[in-house]
Amino acid sequence: MTQEAHVTQGPLTTEAGAPVADNQNSETAGLGGPVLVQDQLLLEKLAHFNRERIPERVVHARGAGAYGTFTVTRDVTQWTRAKFLSEVGKQTETFLRFSTVAGNLGAADAVRDPRGWALKFYTEEGNYDLVGNNTPVFFIKDAIKFPDFIHTQKRDPYTGSTEADNVWDFWSLSPESTHQVTWLFGDRGIPASYRHMNGYGSHTYQWNNEAGEVFWVKYHFKTDQGIRNLTQAEADRLAGEDPDSHQRDLRQAIERGDFPTWTVQVQIMPAADAAAYRFNPFDLTKVWPHEDYPPIEIGRLELNRNPENIFAEVEQAIFSPAHFVPGIGPSPDKMLQGRLFAYGDAHRYRVGINADHLPVNRPHATVARTNSRDGLLYDGRHGGAKNYEPNSFGGPHQTDRPLWQPVPVAGATGNHAAPVHAEDNDFVQAGALYRLMSEDEKARLVENLAGFIAKVSRDDIVERAIGNFRQADGDFGKRLDAAVQALRG
Ligand code: HEM
Repeated sequence: MTQEAHVTQGPLTTEAGAPVADNQNSETAGLGGPVLVQDQLLLEKLAHFNRERIPERVVHARGAGAYGTFTVTRDVTQWTRAKFLSEVGKQTETFLRFSTVAGNLGAADAVRDPRGWALKFYTEEGNYDLVGNNTPVFFIKDAIKFPDFIHTQKRDPYTGSTEADNVWDFWSLSPESTHQVTWLFGDRGIPASYRHMNGYGSHTYQWNNEAGEVFWVKYHFKTDQGIRNLTQAEADRLAGEDPDSHQRDLRQAIERGDFPTWTVQVQIMPAADAAAYRFNPFDLTKVWPHEDYPPIEIGRLELNRNPENIFAEVEQAIFSPAHFVPGIGPSPDKMLQGRLFAYGDAHRYRVGINADHLPVNRPHATVARTNSRDGLLYDGRHGGAKNYEPNSFGGPHQTDRPLWQPVPVAGATGNHAAPVHAEDNDFVQAGALYRLMSEDEKARLVENLAGFIAKVSRDDIVERAIGNFRQADGDFGKRLDAAVQALRG
């Protein structure tokens, strides 16, 4: 029911549909007497109100979403057989949820934090979710470290506040974070709005074509609005004055017909290149430099419709990196592999076992045909159909064709670190990023980092943190050291 239909459809009712006579005064025993248990409207309203919240996302709690359209602009059938990518001009409905990572549901938008980029394609072969960020890399490269990392970003169990000591203790002990931290404290660390930033799939994914050939792919969504960022001072002011700045900006732009768009690009690596590539192509803390694999433009994404109900369509939206379609699959990236479990598990806990049935989450261009049944809030959609397979009653059957191609493996099981390639170390790309920056950008980066590191209480953590940036680039480390010492006195 739309907002308008809701207001023109007759009297106020109870949840069971009975008309409500008085919504201002609860029922009492006599004038001024105690309230009666028979006032079902009162009980129903208070009970429903107590249950209005579901658990917020453990990360990326704060966000905003919009529907849109993805249009293919280049023939990609040589690399993938995904049907929604099969023809130039083909359009697919999408839903995109932007978010910040660390803040809770009520946190301000204008903060230094990666922005989530969770994009659902409602394709005719099922929903394909690309759950990325506005950064091409990440802080860590193994899922086993994610809960520890996030604990340092959230509130300390004793102080109840976020603590610079925890953040820098973890980052300095996880040198693979140096690249992402350099990115985050640079100019792009605080986008001016969701419209003025890029999105990235970040991980490497598999594409496979009709012939069964495998390609490794990285996705880039380049904003057509232009990159716009806030300085730390601008963000500090805006976060206080208008905590909802990003959310409002997105909604209002779409309301006035100023639909934001992104140019979609991919970097494609033939499977045979992966083993000898100079960087481990499945290491999420690294990019593939564009001179190695130039981005190829394949499509256009436009956001053009606001959700009508934020709770139903944004809060209850679920995205999973495990939602693939034929022609697309995972890579051996250890972080991605962990995420393939984490999201579905989060959804079952946060929204419930039938979360996939909600309008925003279910397939729009096909129907889901499973033998899963029942559970909390099951709506009976399968009627009396048989609930097992194989069956001889015309039920859905398997296709015998996997969505993605097998990947070769080698060696014995074990707690192995990700393989190291010829030019891999934790600092090389952080140093390259620093050296790419203009003098002004470097100065702001050093100031932003120093302001935060100077809040750390322990000398050993400060020294270790600066040491990582020194290893990335000598000049970077020297300037940071001087700036931190000046602030700490
Ligand atoms: C192994 C590492 C990671 C784990 C275990 C993890 C886990 C989670 C969990 C549990 C949620 C909440 C899901 C929900 O309640 O619906 C979430 C949300 C999210 N994560 Fe991750 N995450 C990881 C790494 C990443 C990375 C590397 C990216 C980006 C490249 C990312 C992007 C997102 C986004 C965009 C959301 C918000 C989705 C939405 O809008 O509903 N995460 N993550």
